[in-house]
Amino acid sequence: MGTQGIVTTITRQEWLEPAEVRVQKLLHNAFASGGRGGQKVKNFLHGTWLGHPLHVILTDVPIGAWTAALVFDLLEVTSQRREFAVAAEKSIAVGLVGAAGAAVTGLTDWQDIDPPARRVGLVHGLINVAGVALFATSLILRKRKARSSGRILAALGYAVATAAAYLGGNLVYEQGIGVDHANREKLPEKFVPVFSESELGDGELRRAEHDGVPILLVRRGKRIFALAETCSHLGGPLSEGKLRGNSVQCPWHGSRFALEDGRVLDGPAVHPQPCLEARVRNGKIELRRFKPDAERKMAPSKASPSKSSDAQESEEKTGTGG
Ligand code: FES
Repeated sequence: MGTQGIVTTITRQEWLEPAEVRVQKLLHNAFASGGRGGQKVKNFLHGTWLGHPLHVILTDVPIGAWTAALVFDLLEVTSQRREFAVAAEKSIAVGLVGAAGAAVTGLTDWQDIDPPARRVGLVHGLINVAGVALFATSLILRKRKARSSGRILAALGYAVATAAAYLGGNLVYEQGIGVDHANREKLPEKFVPVFSESELGDGELRRAEHDGVPILLVRRGKRIFALAETCSHLGGPLSEGKLRGNSVQCPWHGSRFALEDGRVLDGPAVHPQPCLEARVRNGKIELRRFKPDAERKMAPSKASPSKSSDAQESEEKTGTGG
């Protein structure tokens, strides 16, 4: 059976579903019971503040530390020098601390993923628990002077942790967990009309489309905001979400983005939502990809249309999404 076959076999284990649902519910309830504070902790653990999943950074700690431990074990056996034994023990301990952080952040991310990735994530976590147990036992045995047994358990733990890491890689590279799902590449560079201004009611979430790319439009009083419509977390349709003040909440897992600039206000999303500029011309709403000031200044010949459009924008009822 190839490695992909292993993943397929895992996804077919339907008997795991009740456990998945139950654990996700427990995690949701635990964070929800903390109210706004619980959401802040959740945001921190997702890595919303970092613009990157925190979990994948922390997983490097045990992988690196335990690799070092194996090297020190080898050096200890070949040189019989005591300092390598001490270094191996310290490396295992550092790896265990890193694994605890990776477990907490991983569980936090996992509560907001759906099948089939959810099942692969569960098995990934359970295998990691086995790896941690082996390294922890190895450390205990070393402290009790059973060094040979400790080294064997560490080697076993490393093999188990490698299997878990393979599944982690599958979750990211095959199933797109933790990557940015918003469409950034195909947003219009120049203003394009999408639909009539009269069709957009105040406080309404509307889905427009340009070149096959869905765009979210929202009017708040005199301003019109526009964001990429596909949620950066896992691709949820933001136009089917909820307007919460000057933010939009995804209907799938509750990520919240500022209408003003697409920044993430609440996870699980960690990547900001791409933002567009909006203006009204001849009764039509026109949009283009939001360009930061620095980027506009670097495009000299293209500055003139933007200048004239800016002037006209002040004359017409307009707004920008950023
Ligand atoms: S798809 Fe998960 S929060 Fe939007």
